[in-house]
Amino acid sequence: MPVILGIESSCDETSAAISVNGTVRSNVIANQTIHEKFGGVVPELASRAHQQHIIPAVDQAIRDAKVHKNDIDAVAFTRGPGLLGSLLVGTSFAKAFALARAIPLIEVNHMQAHILAHFIEEPVPEFPFLCLTVSGGHTQLVLVKSHFEMELLGQTLDDAAGEAFDKTAKILGLPYPGGPLIDRHAQHGNPRAFTFPEPQVPGLNFSFSGLKTAILYFVQQRQGKQADFLNVHLNDVCASVQSRIVSILLNKLRRAARDTGVFHVAIAGGVSANSGLRNGLMAMGEQEGWQVFIPRFEYCTDNAAMIAIAGHYKFLAHEFVGQEIAPIARYAI
Ligand code: KG4
Ligand code: ZN
Repeated sequence: MPVILGIESSCDETSAAISVNGTVRSNVIANQTIHEKFGGVVPELASRAHQQHIIPAVDQAIRDAKVHKNDIDAVAFTRGPGLLGSLLVGTSFAKAFALARAIPLIEVNHMQAHILAHFIEEPVPEFPFLCLTVSGGHTQLVLVKSHFEMELLGQTLDDAAGEAFDKTAKILGLPYPGGPLIDRHAQHGNPRAFTFPEPQVPGLNFSFSGLKTAILYFVQQRQGKQADFLNVHLNDVCASVQSRIVSILLNKLRRAARDTGVFHVAIAGGVSANSGLRNGLMAMGEQEGWQVFIPRFEYCTDNAAMIAIAGHYKFLAHEFVGQEIAPIARYAI
């Protein structure tokens, strides 16, 4: 019955969670709102906020789980990828906690953890399965062969899908992070009102920077002719952009499924909260005969429950690390 404390601090969410025998008992997430007014995450401010939030978050996670500190068998933390200053806070905390309590320390790859979020609740996908991980920092298409054996089939060559949403939102005058707002406006707009280009990228890789430029020129040109263009057409622009981002993602996913012959298909990461992507995936899944897996929203965005679950499987495999471990900003899956 291993009790695992999970710690996540890779970007702008400070999170702590407890799992007991592979079941998540608590998942505390402290959001950092300070970045909103800067239109993006400011690394220095993120590190300081992690420093303030981490101990209260851990205390709360332990209380919520109704366990005692002495019950914790191991501490798992996000080693990377992420912002180095942010990762350092979680890593240092986890090392100190493990040392003080003389329990094992487990390092976790954040991108693997996003995928392992599928093992928090039923139904769980069968190996091998495909996972499209789409967040503010990453866009990856992964063939998942076991809990820790993952093959990267494709990734973005420039911006991540979440970045495409957030940068589009900025162009449209919406606050950061704009992804959820585009989603909301899109639900009241016509996805066929405007057409944005689909980039021609070989293989299973993605590219979103051309789309961002196309949107910028489109808005500038339309506003040149009609000053209140965005006021009048915001919903249609959001629906059309969202529809293009979703089609870029799903076309590659379909290709990966056909190439590999794998029909258990999952999505993970913050952008998997997007309603257009969820609906599109479900529709494509029906057409293609896939079994589709979408985690609950709180396990899509950054959270420590997924770190605790990854830690649980590593604990069972006795995969521990020593006190010399250091975080790494770039960490391949
Ligand atoms: O996984 P996540 O919480 O953090 C990273 O590791 O990046 O993902 C955050 C990203 C942001 O870019 C945010 O705009 C996007 O996920 N996002 C969405 C939606 N909810 C979150 N994008 C589109 N539609 C949404 N509903
Ligand atoms: Zn993430």
